[in-house]
Amino acid sequence: MGSTAEPHDIRTSLMEPLRPHVIVLFGATGDLAKRKLLPGLLHLSRAGLVPECRIVATSLDDLDDDGFRRVARAACDEFGRGAITDEVWTDFAGRLSYVSQADGSEALAKAVTVAEDALGGESRRLHYLSVPPKAARAVVQMLADADLVARSRIIMEKPFGTDLASSQELNAAVHEVFREHQVFRIDHFLGKEAAQNILAFRFANGLFEPIWNRNHIDHVQIDVPETLGLDARAGFYESTGAYRDMVVTHLFQVLAFMAMEPPTALEPLAISEEKNKVFRSMLPIEPANVVRGQYIGYRDEPGVGGHSETETFVALRCEIDNWRWAGVPFFLRTGKRMAEGGRIISIAFREPPKSMFPAGSGVGAQGPDHLTFDLADASKLSLSFYGKRPGPGMKLDKLSLQFALHETERAADVLEAYERLIYDAMSGDHTLFTTAEGIERLWEISMPLLTDPPPVRPYAAGSWGPNAIHQIIAPHTWRLPFERAWRDK
Ligand code: BG6
Repeated sequence: MGSTAEPHDIRTSLMEPLRPHVIVLFGATGDLAKRKLLPGLLHLSRAGLVPECRIVATSLDDLDDDGFRRVARAACDEFGRGAITDEVWTDFAGRLSYVSQADGSEALAKAVTVAEDALGGESRRLHYLSVPPKAARAVVQMLADADLVARSRIIMEKPFGTDLASSQELNAAVHEVFREHQVFRIDHFLGKEAAQNILAFRFANGLFEPIWNRNHIDHVQIDVPETLGLDARAGFYESTGAYRDMVVTHLFQVLAFMAMEPPTALEPLAISEEKNKVFRSMLPIEPANVVRGQYIGYRDEPGVGGHSETETFVALRCEIDNWRWAGVPFFLRTGKRMAEGGRIISIAFREPPKSMFPAGSGVGAQGPDHLTFDLADASKLSLSFYGKRPGPGMKLDKLSLQFALHETERAADVLEAYERLIYDAMSGDHTLFTTAEGIERLWEISMPLLTDPPPVRPYAAGSWGPNAIHQIIAPHTWRLPFERAWRDK
């Protein structure tokens, strides 16, 4: 372990006021930095949510400070929220500097010193590694060589490794330099307002927790179809694929929030403990329960090999073999270039033990009653149930109670997921981050699939995936596409 690391005390770090920060952004000209991190940092600083800070950007590109500022401005114009006034931009641009990673650790150390001198006093360091897994180790080493470990925290992007062995090696390499409490493994789905609302919904209300188990829940779907394709990410995606990119990270993390036992407190250690228990109880992912797909035309995308076996789609069935969930299947699906975009968790309740409604009444005709979380930025929640159609006789219709965040007065307060997580990392709050133990366990249960993946099946772009998706969920059906649209105000 680095001798300069500080003792582990999450409680004190949680309560400390935010000190000035130097943010060292690796991969600063990459896709994520442009879409989320730079616009997010601009928003946080504009909203007064970050302390005094300087951003030292670095990447493999050969740029100077002004060249990088132009890149950052274009990114914030394209992906940020609303128009940027000259005053706001001048203030933000003044905090940015650039050093090429090719100039080595000394140049990086010097750039950080300049930024720290500008801040004065003793600032903190936040290293954001927006780099692919294979580059992460070299960056960690560079930080050690540049002597930038003291007073620092490090945010690491997913996927964290690409299998069990590589995640263990990466964790070991990181722990040679940083202590675990300095490490923030990001999974931006946990930063989504709607994901955190799962915790509020489950544990702040008396109504649902008593039925949150195998006695009342029939099955669960976590479905994240995307209409977008690769954009310019073929290099990353070809060696990653949908399972590593989305399932082993985002979908399993959301599953843990949905399935975990009540934590002893709303605190990082207590929450991680319960999430890790879910992961420990998950059965290994069997290839027979997985459908891998590739959209037709993927192999013609620039940067993709003509014989690529990378999946752009995955659907699977998994199980959590514990007291609460034994026998309840969880169906997960995600893919690129699908018919519609969506991010839902759908919980299907068991049928009532006896139906006294006459044949043809419509009971059960539209599937079981459901609780649905929509994890979109404008998040929604719906509880569907059968109710009587007004008029003579006893006909039943599927009705719903719905809540939409965008109908409240608080919609503008929502922080984008990365904004929230950068803010939390600066505050030293690990609640919404993943742990080494949890991630290694997820790779461990993934190994049967990764060592013996089923062949990729083609699917038409704009569809819901290969036909085989119906077999793995039968006798149930996928909730998406919805039969009834969400209600609009
Ligand atoms: C990223 C994946 O982590 O999440 C992308 O690398 C994916 O492939 C994205 O498109 C989806 O995130 P969001 O927040 O847009 O649903």
